[in-house]
Amino acid sequence: MSRDPLALVRAHPGPAFEFSFDGEPVPALPGQSIAAALWASGRLSWRRTRHTGRPRGAFCGIGVCFDCLVVSDGQPNVRACLARAVPGGTVATQEGTGYAQIQ
Ligand code: FES
Repeated sequence: MSRDPLALVRAHPGPAFEFSFDGEPVPALPGQSIAAALWASGRLSWRRTRHTGRPRGAFCGIGVCFDCLVVSDGQPNVRACLARAVPGGTVATQEGTGYAQIQ
């Protein structure tokens, strides 16, 4: 028996859309967080730590740990687990503090 999360909660979300992540299209549903959409697309890390460049992704999933930071529409330090994916949005891997990516 398969479990469809949408069927379990009787959800009828609007049409899917795409945003870009590091230049590649990522599908998302209305209300879905950036982290959830990235996870659903098979991506588990989208940040590199400041000093050692170690990969990070979602850890707590509730906005506490700051492991999930991304650059969203040019804004660094956006928590992907809390930020909603938006149609046509531009999300990028955050390197270190993310400020070096701002021109
Ligand atoms: S996963 Fe911990 S703040 Fe986003």
